[in-house]
Amino acid sequence: MSTRAKLGGICLLSYAIGVLLSPYFLPTDFLTVNVAPLFIDKLLLSAQHISINSDDALNNEENDVVELELPPMKYEAPYKQIIGDDDDPFHGVDIVLHRNGEPDPCMRQQQQQQSQLDGDASSFTLLEKMLERMGVITVDNSDDEAAPSTASNKESMSPLSQSILRSTEQFAKPLSFDSKYDLDATLTHAFATNTQSIFSNAQSSCGPTWEQDPTKPHYLDQVNENYNLLSSYSSLLKYCDMGIDRTPIQPDHNNLVRLAQVKSLPCTFHTREGLRVTSLSMLVELAREVKSDEGECEVGDNNEESDQQTCTSGNDSGDNARKELHLYAVSAGRVFMFAPKHVGEVFELPHVKGPQGLPVSLEVMSLTPRVFDIYNFFNRDESAAIVDKALKETSETHKMKRSSTGASGYNLNSKRTSENGFDTHGKEAQIVKRRCMDILGFDEYEESLTDGLQVLRYNKTTGYFPHLDWIDDPRKKEEHNFDSAGIGSNRFATILLYMSDLEAGDGGETLFSHGWPAGQAEEEHVQLDDAIDALRASGDVEGILKRDSWEEKMVANCRSRLAVRPHSSRAVLFYSQHPDGSVDQSSLHGGCPVITDQPKWAANLWAWNSIRGGFPGSPKNEHVVEKNRAANKSPENDQQKHATFINDKSDESMRHAQLFFQDTFWGNYGFDDPPLGINTFKGHKWHVRVDGEVIKSFTIGRDKKQEFHI
Ligand SMILES: *[C@@H]1O[C@H](CO)[C@@H](O)[C@H](O)[C@H]1NC(C)=O
Ligand SMILES: *[C@@H]1O[C@H](CO)[C@@H](O)[C@H](O)[C@H]1NC(C)=O
Repeated sequence: MSTRAKLGGICLLSYAIGVLLSPYFLPTDFLTVNVAPLFIDKLLLSAQHISINSDDALNNEENDVVELELPPMKYEAPYKQIIGDDDDPFHGVDIVLHRNGEPDPCMRQQQQQQSQLDGDASSFTLLEKMLERMGVITVDNSDDEAAPSTASNKESMSPLSQSILRSTEQFAKPLSFDSKYDLDATLTHAFATNTQSIFSNAQSSCGPTWEQDPTKPHYLDQVNENYNLLSSYSSLLKYCDMGIDRTPIQPDHNNLVRLAQVKSLPCTFHTREGLRVTSLSMLVELAREVKSDEGECEVGDNNEESDQQTCTSGNDSGDNARKELHLYAVSAGRVFMFAPKHVGEVFELPHVKGPQGLPVSLEVMSLTPRVFDIYNFFNRDESAAIVDKALKETSETHKMKRSSTGASGYNLNSKRTSENGFDTHGKEAQIVKRRCMDILGFDEYEESLTDGLQVLRYNKTTGYFPHLDWIDDPRKKEEHNFDSAGIGSNRFATILLYMSDLEAGDGGETLFSHGWPAGQAEEEHVQLDDAIDALRASGDVEGILKRDSWEEKMVANCRSRLAVRPHSSRAVLFYSQHPDGSVDQSSLHGGCPVITDQPKWAANLWAWNSIRGGFPGSPKNEHVVEKNRAANKSPENDQQKHATFINDKSDESMRHAQLFFQDTFWGNYGFDDPPLGINTFKGHKWHVRVDGEVIKSFTIGRDKKQEFHI
């Protein structure tokens, strides 16, 4: 044992004896208010079992190992029930942590770390072990031989299991390993507490990606000042909780479990493929998959071919081969984003149900912007049904008409000449919307995070000038808060569906102005002037598009830049935001003009990073709301009402009813659906539809709380 560790041990022992003798005396600079009560309880509890002779402890290092066992940890029994009694599934599996959207890891579990609490070959005391378990100290056992795993591993717990169990002890509220919210908090705590972390380099690596404004301290800085507590936490905490000015409020925000002691918000954890880890049994399953996945990939970080999530980590000599389980941490209030490393990389998504059970996968087309081909996203039947429905739609707001642009209102734009309509509730549209959310890594469908499916038709010569799907409101003039880098909501991902076959000469590609064709070497890049010359020489748009028009320029760009050629049932995903919510300017894209008589049919679905405008709970620019309120509305009409829509299951014709706010699909209102509770306003009109027909309408009255039964 090093002198430092010895001195530390002596101090701790003396300290602990002091505590034992006088439980009411506590130096607050050492123990925080939060840790202390727990700490005393534990010590008093175990004092019955331990007798400590301080002389022995000082004179004889070997004898200070107390023979008695630690009392079992609070959640040990339910934990073991889930992971299984015989062999801990996390043995031999190292957790490798990434920040959302980043292909390179920010922390790696230390491979040499062996179980410290099980007492095998360790030379520190039971008391030290207890203090460590409680997260009060870190025991420096770096002098000890790193005992390689032996047969004793079978019974002992893996470092991850120990770390999780020690973390659960810190929470005052009862936790469940089946609750995703509890699990998020436990895992974040386990990864971020230095004394309990499986990452020895926890202090530096997974810090925040955003820049802190020095005039606006993060609230965790204040916790630090008050309690001197944060020194035992890693910077991962500030990554997971971006602070009150940067955390959008999701529909389930109130379910989030704050971390013990520091009360900050936890991360959510996803696999490389986007699947959210929602329970301990799922984490166990992932670890088992990693282990059974033998030799699937080449070793080494530089290997461009290794697309697998799980790789042996270099030391697969003999039985001690270690596997890696990669987890992607997403800050609270933020959404998962794929982390592509190279063009051509493939992400298999077996958890997403494609049409007729076909496997859905993504292939990376470009890193900047982030663009992916989606295979088996939808099929020709679904495609035909969506086009058919769009053509038959008669409602004024949803039928096909000349497209408009802008954050609000209907503004015709000479550079968007397509026609579009909306399909909010058609059968295929709903299936496609759900599949879209599955692909994007949402574990639950959330209607308030997507727009309706927008169906588009481009006849000959029509197109859409390059633009961002992210809606800009630089002067904050809209009631809705679009600032997604802060707490606002905006479009963050777009899935484009193509529903007709276009040949190379037909035009109509989707152009990404900042991207280059997949696989093209830099020296082969063609600049715009050369592309225009080549287009004019070809004569392909002669007599169809005007010279020097934006349409002509786009066709030239489409032939030299990254452009996606439509064919029916092809789908593409791209992101309009970075993982921290800031706008990704490289996502600039447009629809190239169609230059033959073959019309282009397409559809798109926008996913929002948080509740979109028009839905209860959507983020507001309060000053605009106040101004509008003062300007033109009587205060009484403005008062929010709470409406509950209940299906009494007495009218058989209402078995599959759906609720609409004006023309917007709101939620299912059938026999099997829970009551819909909604914040709304006096005078608002709500419609009940069955098979698309409006069967009944409700108007919100003046009472604060109202119920509507069908
Ligand atoms: C493999 O293990 C040996 C000893 O167990 C160690 O010295 C070596 O650095 C390890 N190699 C890698 C690539 O981790
Ligand atoms: C586009 O073509 C379709 C079918 O030929 C036609 O019905 C529609 O009116 C055209 N749209 C415009 C804006 O010309």
